[in-house]
Amino acid sequence: MMTAVDAKALFQQATEVAVSAYAPYSGFGVGAALLAKSGQVYVAVNVENAAYASTICAERAAVAAAVAAGERNFKAIAIAAANGSPISPCGACRQVLSEFGVSIDVVTTGLDGLRTESLEFLLPRPFHL
Ligand code: THU
Repeated sequence: MMTAVDAKALFQQATEVAVSAYAPYSGFGVGAALLAKSGQVYVAVNVENAAYASTICAERAAVAAAVAAGERNFKAIAIAAANGSPISPCGACRQVLSEFGVSIDVVTTGLDGLRTESLEFLLPRPFHL
């Protein structure tokens, strides 16, 4: 598990980018900060669409940005709601993250503050071909 200080710093980056979320339909902006083993951080936001199902979550957008930059190995991802409310990654994003390994730390906020959990804990027995 990453240190509390590192988790807080990564969460801060997710919070900062969340203001750029494009969420006119739900009004629920989300920011994600994905830390690769290279040390590089990839930030992204949710991008909604008038065809609601075409929306992409912040976490999957961050994975796409990181992979486009040549990354394959990840240490942690922080997820923040623009309004500061508690958040937990959706099932689809857990599955997409699991493609690159389940030992990644997932930093979110619960009702009692920041929490760091392994993806393995959040998604037991993911689907793999
Ligand atoms: N959303 C994310 O971006 N990440 C999550 O972990 C949960 C949900 C987005 C999708 C949609 O644009 C909005 O939040 C409301 O569901």
